[in-house]
Amino acid sequence: MWLTLKTLLYLDIKFISEEFSIINFKSFGKRISVMNMNKKGKVLEIVDYCMPKRTIYGLNSVKKLKNEIVDNKKNILYLTCKNNGKYLPFHFYIMNILDSISNKVFIFDEIESEPSAQDVDLAVKYAKENNIGIILAVGGGSVIDTAKAVSFLLTNPGSVTEYQIGKKEIKKRGIDIIAIPTTSGTGAEVTKVAVIANKEKKIKKSIIHPYLVPNLVILDPNLTKSLPPKLTALTGIDALSHAIEAYVSLFEIPFAKATALKSIELISKNLVESYKNPDNLEARMNMLIASYLSGLSLIASVGAAHRLAQPISSVTGLSHSEAVSVVLINVLKINREFCKEKFRDIASLLGVNICEMNLDQASNKTVELIEKMFYDLNINASFKSYNIDPILFPEIIENAKNTTSHLIYNPRPINNNILLEILEKSQ
Ligand SMILES: [Fe+2]
Repeated sequence: MWLTLKTLLYLDIKFISEEFSIINFKSFGKRISVMNMNKKGKVLEIVDYCMPKRTIYGLNSVKKLKNEIVDNKKNILYLTCKNNGKYLPFHFYIMNILDSISNKVFIFDEIESEPSAQDVDLAVKYAKENNIGIILAVGGGSVIDTAKAVSFLLTNPGSVTEYQIGKKEIKKRGIDIIAIPTTSGTGAEVTKVAVIANKEKKIKKSIIHPYLVPNLVILDPNLTKSLPPKLTALTGIDALSHAIEAYVSLFEIPFAKATALKSIELISKNLVESYKNPDNLEARMNMLIASYLSGLSLIASVGAAHRLAQPISSVTGLSHSEAVSVVLINVLKINREFCKEKFRDIASLLGVNICEMNLDQASNKTVELIEKMFYDLNINASFKSYNIDPILFPEIIENAKNTTSHLIYNPRPINNNILLEILEKSQ
């Protein structure tokens, strides 16, 4: 227990429900201020830290699925990605498991790789028609985010767009979601966020609510074995970017910092190995855990790389992980000066012996080693490599105003000129 009796004198702890607690700070004793201040000098008032109720992981852990669906009257919606196809081996594997229970299973495999409000509406319609009681999301972030939106729209009125633009609020918990990731990158399986594209308005916007967190997550490395090398690399870099941006974020949440650091360490040891030896199940398992942990770290907020990734995707059509990878190195470069100590910590996790280095050398090593990781993963991250014309940069900057990512916690204060500078350096 980290709260000593002496510390408790400063605190008035109220438990308001089984799920959430609020800590009111009556006065600021030194011990508390050291423990809980962020760099902006404010004590953190309320942190709503959500995570899945349960997580099962390990080789062949997906077999446990049949024990987890206890109500055989509930119809199951099996959600998966259009491009993924229902013909990948792991779908047959999971279908075989579902055959051993008596629930009816309805497959919906029309989800695009960047899900749109239209995709969600179609899936909701299909779910209503088939009286769905539980969602099985088998895929990457797109599928899991769609599952979150479908889940709450089955118990709350209106369309997904109304919640995106803040016209409606989520009032009721959705139906249960079991998330089974088949990529290692987005961390969507643990977050309370669903990122949905709005094609008409040409924006990607997040819906955020604790009710969106899946109830159960199953991490089985057998399911990421068939992920193509390029996607292994790009989604792994997305997970790395979550962990780094959360760790250097000015929002000092201990849960986030701890999970970010372990995630960075696991990615450093397992991403290139997963890319080069796709059948290495230990590396695949560690990447699934790394992605999960980086997702948990996102409560500390992301920074400039993610602020730019959403509008880059909306304007250019690049996938989320492609967009992140295009700008990440230059975001690290512009931030380094403002968070050298944290970059030194990261360098150490990337395997650098920092003992004989000064702060500049050690923090620079982080940038160098991540550039090397890009090289080892054959990621040629630039706008040019995707044939994207710099003429689109002003539109990307304009579009960034409509995204939900925050910039206040980025270590370097950011304005539109700096965002433009990052885009130009990433050409
Ligand atoms: Fe991301």
